[in-house]
Amino acid sequence: MAEEKKHNKLTTASGRVYVENENSKTVGPKGPILLEDYILHEKMAHFNRERIPERVVHAKGSGAYGTFTVTNDITQYTKAKLFNKVGKKTRIFARFSTVGGEKGSADTERDPRGFAIKFYTEDGNWDLVGNNTPVFFVKDPKKFGDFIHTQKRDPYTNCKSATMMWDFWSLNPESLHQVLILMSDRGTPDGYRHMDGFGSHTFSMINAKNERVYVKYHFKTAQGIKNFTDEEAAQMKAKDMDYAQRDLLESIDQGNYPKWNLKIQVMTVEQSKKVDFNPFDLTKVWPHAEFPLIDVGVMELHQNPDNYFQDVEQAAFAPAHVVDGLGYSPDKMLQGRLLSYPDAHRYRLGANYEQIPVNRCPYAVNNYQRDGAMRIDGNGGRQPNYWPNSFDDIKVDESYREPSEQLEDTIADWYDRNSKIGDNDHYSQPRALFRDVMTQEEQDNTIKNVINAMSGISGPKRDEIVNRQLCHWFRMDEEFGSRVAGGLGVDVNSVMESMGFSH
Ligand code: NDP
Ligand code: HEM
Repeated sequence: MAEEKKHNKLTTASGRVYVENENSKTVGPKGPILLEDYILHEKMAHFNRERIPERVVHAKGSGAYGTFTVTNDITQYTKAKLFNKVGKKTRIFARFSTVGGEKGSADTERDPRGFAIKFYTEDGNWDLVGNNTPVFFVKDPKKFGDFIHTQKRDPYTNCKSATMMWDFWSLNPESLHQVLILMSDRGTPDGYRHMDGFGSHTFSMINAKNERVYVKYHFKTAQGIKNFTDEEAAQMKAKDMDYAQRDLLESIDQGNYPKWNLKIQVMTVEQSKKVDFNPFDLTKVWPHAEFPLIDVGVMELHQNPDNYFQDVEQAAFAPAHVVDGLGYSPDKMLQGRLLSYPDAHRYRLGANYEQIPVNRCPYAVNNYQRDGAMRIDGNGGRQPNYWPNSFDDIKVDESYREPSEQLEDTIADWYDRNSKIGDNDHYSQPRALFRDVMTQEEQDNTIKNVINAMSGISGPKRDEIVNRQLCHWFRMDEEFGSRVAGGLGVDVNSVMESMGFSH
């Protein structure tokens, strides 16, 4: 390729120097414009193509580069090279986001927050694509699209709809745990720096002896938890739609680098067969008392990307991206996500999205994938484009093989009602959060937020939806149910009677 000659003249994309950048080429000073003004065509045509599809969820977000440093030895659980030595540093890219809103929506909406980290490890990129909550609204990927539709706009009104949201949640009791967290003040965090992050799913770790354990990842904010109340979030929405973006960017620009401490919970495969809840159910946590947090390391963000679109908009995170020593689990939601993200990236960014700088593995990438739109990495040059071949020495490596897993069960369209593993208890863990963890102030705010949110339910099905949801709140905690019913002006006894609720 010819060496690029530097100069400071304005040019077309192909390098032709502009002679004029404010007036089109015309017949006389009054026009009309000549078809031959290619520079005008190029400017207009490129502008028309500036937008790519926004992420179907998590469209509004902020990102930064940083470093992950190991502070505690966990090599007994994993042989992953990024964890192989205390003090080891790995470059990372993090993106935080809201979930339901469009790219231009407000940062302070009541919503979970995305918490996605790409670790550029020497064994390939590892993506941990989590949220600021340890659980999720649904536990089967078949429900994800339906659930997300309720968080988007009503097909007729084109407005957000509390009726859609509470209709779905009330018909899907497994959502209750996540809905409670969402309705607490953690549903409106003060920017991205003051919230925890979670891998949320159960994942595997595999050690040098090829033994597997299951793990949950927790990122604890070193800045301390800080939330907005409902009113503060609404005020901030009116004042600064991009509050969290500005807060993260300015904090890093000022050298005030945000940090999170990474910890894991570990469960042996034997334990996973004995616990009285399904350890692969994304609507449940692993209690800390039984599965204590183990220190791993520190994540620090210290570099804002020079260009938002280049790095943040084009970032592509995929739960499928694991590296040697880290693996998946039977969690159905995780299994669904393994497929969904690269599929979304191919649509949003194109088949060669892994070559975009923020997504590129900085270490070796060798394969026989060739061609496709926007192939810009040399495309394998003169090297063979098939395998096996007699010309290069690229080979698989048996030492990376994961331990086998024994599955003994019946293939069926399993559903909760025939489950014997405690999957149907949607109430105990939210009850523990409300009763045992939240302070009085947090309890009061959560109830107030639920009343505000449920007050938006309207239309002919209002009473049915309100009553159905109230039953879930009652089953979780009677005082909670009574106070929400009172706040909505609903007669408690008639609800209980109409829904056949007994306690
Ligand atoms: P612990 O008392 O050991 O832990 C309670 C956890 O709740 C802490 O991680 C705390 O986070 C977090 N928390 C506090 N307020 C809220 C809130 N409004 N929304 C979400 N999380 C909050 O209890 P257990 O491990 O026995 O769990 C009890 C309940 O706590 C669970 O049923 C679950 O609802 C919730 N929880 C549990 C987690 C787990 O992994 N075990 C993780 C997060 C929540 P922090 O330390 O930042 O204050
Ligand atoms: C983004 C699908 C559940 C966290 C996305 C995207 C899709 C998607 C298609 C857009 C990807 C892109 O265009 O780059 C799904 C499906 C799910 C699911 C099908 C369930 C079956 C979850 C869960 C979490 C989560 C449980 C968290 C624990 C995220 C995050 C992003 C995201 C953080 C944004 C990543 C970024 O910053 O680019 N999801 N999702 N998702 N999802 Fe999910």
